[in-house]
Amino acid sequence: MTIDTSAAVSETLAFYERFYSAIATSRAYAEFCGRVFGRNFGQHGFADMAQLQALIEALAVQPDDDVLDLGCGNGGMAGYIAETTGAYVTGIDISPSAIGQAQRLAAVRPDRLSFRAADIASPPFAPASFDALVAIDTLYFVDLDTSLSALAMLLRPKGRLAIYWSQGANPVVPIEQFDRGTLPPDNTDLARALQRRGLDYRAMDFTAADYRHAQLKRAVLLELRPQFEAEDTMFLYDNRMGEAEGVLAAIDAGAHARYLYLISLP
Ligand SMILES: C[S@@+](CC[C@H](N)C(=O)[O-])C[C@H]1O[C@@H](n2cnc3c(N)ncnc32)[C@H](O)[C@@H]1O
Repeated sequence: MTIDTSAAVSETLAFYERFYSAIATSRAYAEFCGRVFGRNFGQHGFADMAQLQALIEALAVQPDDDVLDLGCGNGGMAGYIAETTGAYVTGIDISPSAIGQAQRLAAVRPDRLSFRAADIASPPFAPASFDALVAIDTLYFVDLDTSLSALAMLLRPKGRLAIYWSQGANPVVPIEQFDRGTLPPDNTDLARALQRRGLDYRAMDFTAADYRHAQLKRAVLLELRPQFEAEDTMFLYDNRMGEAEGVLAAIDAGAHARYLYLISLP
């Protein structure tokens, strides 16, 4: 695997190694995911089962399609896509710990699932290898222009790419510095990168769903706090609580939106 060694990438990798190692044995996190997302797939994004189902339907995944899940984490969501659609699903993630867990899952369904450690920015596949690509809260970590070009090359004619993208203030960009002009679906960082690449897309608004999801996250975390404390996994609690509170504050301030983008090739 070729991974960019810049400080930002190293920091991302270090965080996710710690995250996926911890959730492999955290009962509190498993319960958190089950209650907040509807199934425990060790999620670290913002897509619950309703959002995952909406993505599968938007992509119109067909039995025997070749699908690539970018930033697949421990492979649970890729496994669900394979199970519910009959597609062959490959997953890549930068975290070796996540991919180790995903490969144990693939061992049960080697005919449908495969996983490898790789960087989204330089995906190790031949051109035109896939019918559909999935990116659930993962393209924030890569250069959009370079990655979108590389990803579009992986698709066959009539290929589809579905991306969950949240645009908004976050702990790195405080609300007072956030440019609200980037919130409309055609003005987000992702939309502008798609336009620069000449990729056709449509966007579906999931901002209200994101708000409800963040409210549920906060409530469930507060309830489970003693379990995280007892396990000594408070960094998981703090990380997810920080996100939930950040999303709620940003939406209240009119400084956050969430979209599902569907890109279709001719
Ligand atoms: C916010 S999590 C989302 C995970 C999963 N898709 C979900 O919805 O729960 C981001 C994921 O992207 C992975 N990741 C970050 N940068 C990456 C890169 N450059 N290449 C591949 N995976 C990356 C992380 O390891 C992590 O699993």
